[in-house]
Amino acid sequence: MTERVRYKQAVRGAFDRAAASYDRAAIVQREICHRLLDFASRHTPDGRVAHVLDAGCGTGYGLADLAARFPDATLVALDFAPAMLEQLPGRGEPGAAGPLCADLEALPLATGSIDLAWSSLALQWCDPALALAELARVLRPGGAAWVATLGPETLAELRAAFALVDDAEHVLRFTAPETLLGLARQQGFTVAAHARGPSYALASDLRGLLRDIKAIGAHSVGAARRRAPLGREAWRMLEAAYEPHRRDDGRLPATYDVVLLALKKESGPDARGGTQPPWS
Ligand SMILES: C[S@@+](CC[C@H](N)C(=O)[O-])C[C@H]1O[C@@H](n2cnc3c(N)ncnc32)[C@H](O)[C@@H]1O
Repeated sequence: MTERVRYKQAVRGAFDRAAASYDRAAIVQREICHRLLDFASRHTPDGRVAHVLDAGCGTGYGLADLAARFPDATLVALDFAPAMLEQLPGRGEPGAAGPLCADLEALPLATGSIDLAWSSLALQWCDPALALAELARVLRPGGAAWVATLGPETLAELRAAFALVDDAEHVLRFTAPETLLGLARQQGFTVAAHARGPSYALASDLRGLLRDIKAIGAHSVGAARRRAPLGREAWRMLEAAYEPHRRDDGRLPATYDVVLLALKKESGPDARGGTQPPWS
């Protein structure tokens, strides 16, 4: 088994295990969904929006906003963690988003079949070149991709604190926004808009911050390898190294370096919009 396959299995397993606790802890993730919608809604696809993909939908938090914004569209809710899809609201009811358990890097959707692709906080778990290539492939000309992902300053406090404790890589490396923009253009996207700015998770202590990161499934960050738990002395050092970040309101922050992208698939000769069903 390759390192990449092991990594993916570890990520999927972490999100499967987190499915039941995700909604309780996903405060920053909800804020980022709203930020993405506010930011990107000025950059709608050309023509009719008949098929909307939520790529890496998790428990489906973005779907309600997308259904309200595009009431006539068919929503496809895609995630590779089956337990996340089991949490989708109204699952199986008429009008609910169709769940699709699949990998964002290999979408089982027809080329040119999607009018709008939405993806909030899934791309940072993927190979961004593969994921952006797949989003570009399934979008029809004139379609749009609205993406929220994380930049290199994400969890910078935790990365710096761990660096004082040991030499291991504890925090995932995040792709620089300039690299993402270059990859998007290579895939035939026009960048309609991009923005970057932090959101903060807050807790009264480091244990609480890490518990919330675990509850949303993001604790396998950094490596697929299992590490031994931190010893008492290492934990004490980690807490002490994190302490200078405490804010005036008494809470400890964890930074999410949020990168928002509104991408347009370049229009072909016929971009009237309104696609054939993606699974034909
Ligand atoms: C942090 S959650 C975000 C969920 C949701 N979009 C939200 O905003 O609440 C990331 C989701 O991406 C999914 N994911 C990560 N890598 C994926 C991949 N390669 N293919 C499909 N889903 C993936 C995870 O299973 C998880 O449900």
